[in-house]
Amino acid sequence: MYDFKIAAADKATLYRDLASALESLVTGEPDAVANMANAAALIWESLPDLNWAGFYRNVGGELVVGPFQGRPACIRIPFGTGVCGAAAATLKVQRIDDVHAFDGHIACDAASNSELVVPIVRDGVLLAVLDLDSPKTARFTEEDEAGCLKLAEILARAL
Ligand code: SME
Repeated sequence: MYDFKIAAADKATLYRDLASALESLVTGEPDAVANMANAAALIWESLPDLNWAGFYRNVGGELVVGPFQGRPACIRIPFGTGVCGAAAATLKVQRIDDVHAFDGHIACDAASNSELVVPIVRDGVLLAVLDLDSPKTARFTEEDEAGCLKLAEILARAL
């Protein structure tokens, strides 16, 4: 049984604990789906104010939904479309304070107001994106971005 207690007062400690829990979850497990599923569950349980947390995988140059927590979501997203597609096309983090102001945002859940999408890249190749949605406007700060980049680094070795 895994029983991680991640409830830190400050974000730096929260993400340090989260990275360490993720590392221990994926270490020694080669199955990418298993690792994405546990990562989505861990993030969902640990980070407050999320309404969606999960993955879109790069399947032949198109994003296809992977393991996640939250409401059923759009299945396929072309590179360059929406926030996830922008992250996939540019390999750059997309941290969007107000998704309604983002040209081409794909509304999978009307509750979403802000979004953080982090590309997971190994040897220059996009494997997947980590997508977090929040009902709160400007939910994601620079600290969230830095913390999630660290999680993406761990996942780049585990997918
Ligand atoms: N909002 C995303 C689509 C995926 S859902 O948020 C789960 C986008 O614009 O790419």
